[in-house]
Amino acid sequence: MRLTFGYRDTVCEIVEGRGSIASVGNLVGKERNVLVVTDSGVPVQYVKSVLAQFSNASLLTIPQGEENKNFNTLETIIAALREQEIDRSGALIAVGGGMTGDIAGFAASCYNRGIDFYNVPTTLLAQADASIGGKTALNFGHIKNMVGTFHHPRCVIIDTDTLKTLDARHLYSGLAEVIKMAATSDAALFSMLESDQPLTDTLDEIVAAALRIKCDVVLKDPLEQGLRKVLNFGHTIGHAIEVASDGKLSHGECVAAGMTYFCSDDMRKRLEKMLKRYNLPVKSPFAGAALLPNISQDKKRKDGLITTVYVESPGTFEFRKMTPEEVASLIS
Ligand SMILES: NC(=O)c1ccc[n+]([C@@H]2O[C@H](COP(=O)([O-])OP(=O)(O)OC[C@H]3O[C@@H](n4cnc5c(N)ncnc54)[C@H](O)[C@@H]3O)[C@@H](O)[C@H]2O)c1
Repeated sequence: MRLTFGYRDTVCEIVEGRGSIASVGNLVGKERNVLVVTDSGVPVQYVKSVLAQFSNASLLTIPQGEENKNFNTLETIIAALREQEIDRSGALIAVGGGMTGDIAGFAASCYNRGIDFYNVPTTLLAQADASIGGKTALNFGHIKNMVGTFHHPRCVIIDTDTLKTLDARHLYSGLAEVIKMAATSDAALFSMLESDQPLTDTLDEIVAAALRIKCDVVLKDPLEQGLRKVLNFGHTIGHAIEVASDGKLSHGECVAAGMTYFCSDDMRKRLEKMLKRYNLPVKSPFAGAALLPNISQDKKRKDGLITTVYVESPGTFEFRKMTPEEVASLIS
């Protein structure tokens, strides 16, 4: 599948399909001076396959883990770009999950006031969600994604074959973001996820459907001034759980639990059945009162109110403005 979307002077191309990692060189330009950034948990075969397609490329491997999405790692990436003598005609290519994509994208957005960025996402979360939309980020202390920019990749190359090496926990964690998009925006995708078909048989279709939703939403609201907030379904309580769990629960697991508080009874029943099937949590392990300080710190809060997303039935949503106390009171 190929999708193209333009935003201001940027055109972002999305190339999705099994084996597409072999076309990275052609899409970027094989002669260009490039830095490939990956993390220490990404299987080396993907990185080797990308490097082999360039005549002038170097590799930087950053340490894996969300705790490394910080200024120290950013400095390492900037130093490597300098070492490789990348100028504005060069490019940075990220190969890895959402963590690598977020920080490499941020480095590309500010090095030399911005260089071309290419993303080769290798986790389900990154393929179906994080690699699209141009958000780049670093964590600042315990505050997630506090520092960031909008910098769209020139091209996102999505090879679903790379998901074969992903462990079940990370796969299901990524699926939580897909379930989120299906719940608010695609009743047919929600039904497909409810069906008995094995996930491995439907993965390509699922990624393609999620990409269509994400592109559609981002195109309509690139700077998150309205509609794009729909992608925050489950995130208000999810983020608060994520901070409280101090790295024990993944982003997707927290979003999964967070969604169940903003649904009709019927929707919650269907959602919980689906989440359990994929070993995802269906409720917060923390009481509302314990989460209130984290909910109050929601960086998207405006005039004391948080815009939450409520789902009555699959493929529908409404925005509801709530105080942090009202949100916390949903958790018994
Ligand atoms: N920019 C956005 O719009 C956006 C949206 C959602 C989430 N995010 C960010 O994404 C990050 C989470 O992404 P994630 O879930 O991909 O986590 P991650 O990037 O930390 O990857 C999870 C683990 O999987 C390993 N890995 C990567 N690819 C693999 C493969 N093919 N096979 C085996 N192991 C592999 C990584 O080394 C890592 O240890 C968070 O930092 C979150 O804030 C960003």
